Amino acid sequence: MSVSRLLSLWLAAALVCILCSQMARGQVSGTANGAAFRNDLMPQPASLGVGAGAFQITPALTVGLPRTRSERLQRAVLRALKRLEDKTGTPLPRHVGADSGTLIVSVASDGAAVQGIDEDESYSLTVTPASMELDAATTVGAIHGLETLIQLTQPSGQGYIVPAVTIHDSPRFRWRGLMIDCGRHFEPLDVLERNIDAMAAVKLNVFHWHLTEDQGFRMESRVYPRLTEVGSDGQFYTQNEARALVQYARDRGIRVVPEFEMPGHSTAWLVAYPELNSGSQPTGIRREFGVSNYVLDPTREETYQFIEKFLREMTTIFPDEYVHIGGDEAPAPDWKRNPRILAFMKAHDLKDNAALQAYFNQHVLAILTRLHRRMIGWDEIFNPALPRNVVVQSWRGVASLAKGAQQGYQGVLSAPYYLDGMQPASVPYLADPVPSDTTLTADQQKLILGGEVCMWGEQIDADTIDSRIWPRTAAIAERFWSAQNVRDVDDMYRRLGPVSVEVETLGLQHLKSEDAGLRGLLGSENIDALRSFAQAFEPVSFSERYQQQHTSQLTPLTSFVDAVRPDPPIRHELELAAQRLLADPTSHSASIEEARKTLDGFFAQEAMATPEVLKAMDDAPRLQPMQLRAEQLQDLARIGREAVRYLSSGTPAPEHWRTDSLARIEEARKPSAIVRFQFLPALTQLVSANK
Ligand code: ACM
Repeated sequence: MSVSRLLSLWLAAALVCILCSQMARGQVSGTANGAAFRNDLMPQPASLGVGAGAFQITPALTVGLPRTRSERLQRAVLRALKRLEDKTGTPLPRHVGADSGTLIVSVASDGAAVQGIDEDESYSLTVTPASMELDAATTVGAIHGLETLIQLTQPSGQGYIVPAVTIHDSPRFRWRGLMIDCGRHFEPLDVLERNIDAMAAVKLNVFHWHLTEDQGFRMESRVYPRLTEVGSDGQFYTQNEARALVQYARDRGIRVVPEFEMPGHSTAWLVAYPELNSGSQPTGIRREFGVSNYVLDPTREETYQFIEKFLREMTTIFPDEYVHIGGDEAPAPDWKRNPRILAFMKAHDLKDNAALQAYFNQHVLAILTRLHRRMIGWDEIFNPALPRNVVVQSWRGVASLAKGAQQGYQGVLSAPYYLDGMQPASVPYLADPVPSDTTLTADQQKLILGGEVCMWGEQIDADTIDSRIWPRTAAIAERFWSAQNVRDVDDMYRRLGPVSVEVETLGLQHLKSEDAGLRGLLGSENIDALRSFAQAFEPVSFSERYQQQHTSQLTPLTSFVDAVRPDPPIRHELELAAQRLLADPTSHSASIEEARKTLDGFFAQEAMATPEVLKAMDDAPRLQPMQLRAEQLQDLARIGREAVRYLSSGTPAPEHWRTDSLARIEEARKPSAIVRFQFLPALTQLVSANK
């Protein structure tokens, strides 16, 4: 028996253990090695029982793969060991291959050669002081289980442990995606790789790769080389790179669904091959955003020959069963005025543009069927003329998704998961693809395959994308994986912090990029005051920014708004503190003192930082648009401190103070510098309560 096993057994015996074989969710549950077991898992597993003691991570850990020993599984285990090694500072094995060990990864089969929506992703994890056993039907299940194991690993005393648990886990939805738009702004491969790593960490399983847009065609075609020669500004993925990324994703249990937008959002196709147009020809790839009028010509046989040759080539790169054809936002004025197209519509009894687009989709579907692929597209492809085996991705909302399901179409929900809305994580977190009050029948509910987070590319680049995606996407991943009743927002925020730090170890820049952006704005390493100041703000939504700044593909994304993060952690902390203080404002209980300290500390810090930031603006032209915001912040910080003081003293504030303060808060809600104050809801509550 190894030293580590003896040690573990001794530790277990010495423990005063509460055996709680319960569905442990949230907060502290059970004890392990005397330390409270914090359930920080995200997503929460389907079932979790907490046992006695813990497995101690030591250099004596050995790994056994008694059943499947595929290369893919071995790579996954070795990656997990390296991360455990880094997390615990404990040297761990760099090879696997034995039949037995203290960590046993027992996998029935490597799984399908091409992962599909029916892949068995379930796993069980049993940890005792003596061993850890991970059982899964497929390598994909094992990959999920290894991520759970890493998340479970926590400090205890001088070292690190995995608490004794029994987990049986499987996803609620089969399609759990993240879409990244690489058309409007190109995202280098390393950006995609690190995001795929983080997706795996929270058990997402579809990378939806939005590859073509009015602003750029990003996938190399050897059959039609002008697509990238003319349509990409030289920023595209070679076929070899794309194949390698597909392999990279497969290694992490993630499917890659490529999207080639047609017939709209197709300016880049048309600048390369004008013969595809519907009458009007763009002069170059589009720099502006918004909906374009240029569309492919659905009436010409040559268009379909082109699409078939192109898609045939793409199937040699993308093995996934699904190909996304876009299909959204194709107003196509040419279809209403081009005499040749009008004559075609008349001859084919096609009443309007929607009918012509359905005709187009039917032909593309026939192509995909010949290529042994299935079709997915945005809401607009939904048309009773299409067979039931197309999947509709809904950007228009739950009602639109439900409408499709009622007519027998499978669907994936995306509307609530648009990250560029810059909403706090709690909002998409609570939006359920199949809400508890759904009117869908049980059979119709089965047609909802899941959901996809969407990261549109208008206002992001390689430096800022991670902070828009993470950590909010981890919360949404839980919505897709965990049970419908896992909806405790405070507990979600409690767990989001550790997950955010965990995914940073995979190379994500979401936490670092804020500091880097602030250093750039100031031209200095000394950003302490600016960092405090920045905590008060978050970016406005995509559409507010678009209205205020009218961004194009050529807009530099190095403003203050690009540095600050959506939903900074302090936002929810302030909200909680305000709630707690308001429950009993004059109390001196520890929890209310703590809340008071959080609020006063925040406002005091902002009051102190702001004069320094205002001063620094003289030599920082890119910060100067923040002048009004800084002046407002000085005022709001004073109001915040006064509100806490009045409330805590039990003496009502003068009436004019309240009305004047609320007026100033109202003023601060108005647009300026494309950022908003993140704390106005909490501050409004504190001020309003002063009466
Ligand atoms: C979309 O947002 N037009 C898919």
